[in-house]
Amino acid sequence: EKIFGPSRRNSQGLDLTDECMLETLDKSLRETDHTYISRPLIAHYDASGDATRPVINPADHRDIVGQVTYASDAAIEKALGNADQEATWSKMTPAARRDILDKCADALEAHMIELIALLVREAGKTYANAVGEVREAVDFLRYYGAQVATKDSEATITPLGIILCISPWNFPLAIFTGQIAASLAAGNAVIAKPAEETPLIAAMAVRLFHESGVPLPALQLLPGDGDVGAALVADKRIDGVMFTGSTKVGKLISGVLLGRRGRTGQPVSFIAETGGQNAMLVDSSSLPEQAVTDIIASAFDSAGQRCSALRVLLVQDDCAEHVIDMLKGALDEISVGDPSQLSTDIGPVISEEAKSRIEDHIAAMRDAGRVIWQPKNGLVQQAGWFVPPTIIEVGRVADIGQEVFGPVLHVRRFERQELSSVIDAVNATGYALTFGIQSRVKSTIQHATSRSHAGNIYVNRNIIGATVGSQPFGGRAFPARGRRRGAAPRATARPVR
Ligand code: SER
Repeated sequence: EKIFGPSRRNSQGLDLTDECMLETLDKSLRETDHTYISRPLIAHYDASGDATRPVINPADHRDIVGQVTYASDAAIEKALGNADQEATWSKMTPAARRDILDKCADALEAHMIELIALLVREAGKTYANAVGEVREAVDFLRYYGAQVATKDSEATITPLGIILCISPWNFPLAIFTGQIAASLAAGNAVIAKPAEETPLIAAMAVRLFHESGVPLPALQLLPGDGDVGAALVADKRIDGVMFTGSTKVGKLISGVLLGRRGRTGQPVSFIAETGGQNAMLVDSSSLPEQAVTDIIASAFDSAGQRCSALRVLLVQDDCAEHVIDMLKGALDEISVGDPSQLSTDIGPVISEEAKSRIEDHIAAMRDAGRVIWQPKNGLVQQAGWFVPPTIIEVGRVADIGQEVFGPVLHVRRFERQELSSVIDAVNATGYALTFGIQSRVKSTIQHATSRSHAGNIYVNRNIIGATVGSQPFGGRAFPARGRRRGAAPRATARPVR
């Protein structure tokens, strides 16, 4: 209530046990004759003559979900000119902007079925993940609107100018909407560049923003690949950049922005959230059933394609055999496959390139002599990009290398006297996003909590799915050359994601 206002709560989503509703959802999903379109949405610019390309369903690459038109140089120039001239949105009161963002939240809820169907087909989301994603997007709209419309902040919120929002494919609606909502709430003009893999859901969301009352020049959509992003980042009219994506691209953007000043002569604001080498520590006092449930959710939900996902399980020797056996048993029961089936637990990875990168890592670990385990039913007979959930035992955390963005869990057994040093080894990767502790010993929980550098630490639960309004989300480090000792001071100012 404090955050969303007296009449608001977190979005409730859909009841996936309601058969009627499931039938409607299924029908919406099977409407494959409908072609979704994403093209530059820019005032006074007609992109209908520009070249288009298909957007493919990652779970079935015979299914063409829609067509995307990448922003041309002329489109980019026009969008920047429009944003520069935008004068209506920034002059509205924060309360008026909040009302429009609330309207947009209502519109997302009203279109929940269509949004879910597109999230499943374009991004390979399972039903449960797609519902969670729409809820998060709705929450972001209400959250940021409420943040600027409170009396205290009314006097202090000043727009920066033009904000470029570069969003990722793994939360193509929630993070896309969150970045835009935060920027719009403060009165900025937004240019949104969605991930090249997921431009269709972005276009659907932008249409709902416009229908809810956000003027077109205050929010323009520029679909495209990295070249479109690079052209925008380098443009001197961009006053701030919000970025969620790979560490590599985050560093590239940061390098470009450090080389120039914004229009006011100030450094260009940069809010970035990238990867994680996230760990969970399981000691011998933990409840194995609880730990295994939380490990499975943390490592394999969303096919491991969350920045918060569990990559390294630190498990105490005394209970390791038991926990690993239970994990294997649980994974044997998990179904990997078509995300449009309610019974599916793990859908595809996003692209052929992602699949190859993950498989290359598994092959390299195999060549290095590591023990690798995959479930018996792990192979999926479908024309999509699937990777079975995989467990790899390692001797040292440092042996894992860079973050692997997929359903791969590394296991490092430790002895009691190594408790501090294994946490230090995770800190030394230079990543510090999420960390989990499974223990019933208070002093261990306190010790691990203070020793870990992670931005979000979870105790006796899974380490994914921070809830807007109650769990601020963000990392604390900036990995240099893949690993470093100690974390940098908090570098990101993003309040919630
Ligand atoms: N906010 C998401 C989570 O907490 C990660 O992107 O899982």
